[in-house]
Amino acid sequence: MLPSLPMRSARSRGVIERYRAFLSLSETMPVISLGEGSTPLLHSPRLSDIVGRGCEVYIKYEGLNPTCSFKDRGMTLAVSKAVERGAGIVVCASTGNTSASAAAYAARAGIRCAVVLPAGKIASGKMVQAIAYGATIVAINGNFDDALRIVRELGGREDFAIVNSINPDRIAGQKTAAFEVVDELGDAPAAHLLTLGNAGNISAYWAGYSEYHTAEKCSRRPAMLGFQAAGAAPVFHGRVIENPETVASAIRIGNPASWETAVAALRDSDGAVDVVTDQEMLSAQRWLAAKEGIFVEPASAAPIAGLFKICDATRASRYRRDQIQDGTALVCTVTGHGLKDPDIVLQEAAAITPIPADTDEVLRALSF
Ligand code: F0G
Repeated sequence: MLPSLPMRSARSRGVIERYRAFLSLSETMPVISLGEGSTPLLHSPRLSDIVGRGCEVYIKYEGLNPTCSFKDRGMTLAVSKAVERGAGIVVCASTGNTSASAAAYAARAGIRCAVVLPAGKIASGKMVQAIAYGATIVAINGNFDDALRIVRELGGREDFAIVNSINPDRIAGQKTAAFEVVDELGDAPAAHLLTLGNAGNISAYWAGYSEYHTAEKCSRRPAMLGFQAAGAAPVFHGRVIENPETVASAIRIGNPASWETAVAALRDSDGAVDVVTDQEMLSAQRWLAAKEGIFVEPASAAPIAGLFKICDATRASRYRRDQIQDGTALVCTVTGHGLKDPDIVLQEAAAITPIPADTDEVLRALSF
């Protein structure tokens, strides 16, 4: 199973080999990897201008993982450990990305994958992935929170391994994203902005920054700033939302599994949770694609919309612009690729009517 030739690039080796020293692993665990992690940390000149006062904004582009979302970092570890324990089936509830990732890593491992999904609520690109990777798909008449409750019950069976983020291996794998940020910037940023859904990722980043801080790899830990969709904001409101609603289907979640660790991360980091509206997410998604060439799915645009909100003096924001020190670095994680959810962009696009195949007609149509 191990490659006979040495793998030199960090990307090809994946996050387990890259960060083995920070993951508790046995020597004999089989490594199921698709070359996840080592994603670009892109400087954003335009966002840096918006924040101003010498601050630099960076985008951690997690859509460039093997299944095009951040889930792959945790899935490599969760599936490797499941295989080591002898599980024959990995199972998860999902709003789409976890199922795509679980299906891919199960295929790579040669084991089965079962996914429980809210019917009609999965973006088409994610559904396509689960089908292509050969997962057994069960759609329920319920939401993500219902699906996760069912999966928790199924997980009690011997041959099943749950690969949702209630599995600590998922969080352990995902914390490698914080390591990469520090390794690249040379220190932790002053603030880290990200989408908050089932609350695993914010918990994972905080664990990663904390471990690196203890290991003296960074001099500080960032303020963690989490952003929820206004219609699906249980952590923001401090109560379960029975019927969460948002255009950002990835984070249509009313009762997050890692709620307590997320609240601890927000508190211990002097961070904050805030909400952004669907319209703000969609506008930020368009802005990031058109202004910086970075195309992300709607949920992933939440921290960009959140940064705009922080920088807009007319808005009441839970984290204020004056809490950001001059000349510091900020990182926004964008969690999933825009092609995951093409329909949302197509819906808003104007119809493109064909014209005759004639150069003059084309020039006229371009009207530059
Ligand atoms: N961004 C994307 C693109 C996601 O798919 C998710 C969660 C999040 C952000 C939120 O991250 O849950 O760690 O707070 N997606 C899960 C799924 C729920 O099933 O794919 P979180």
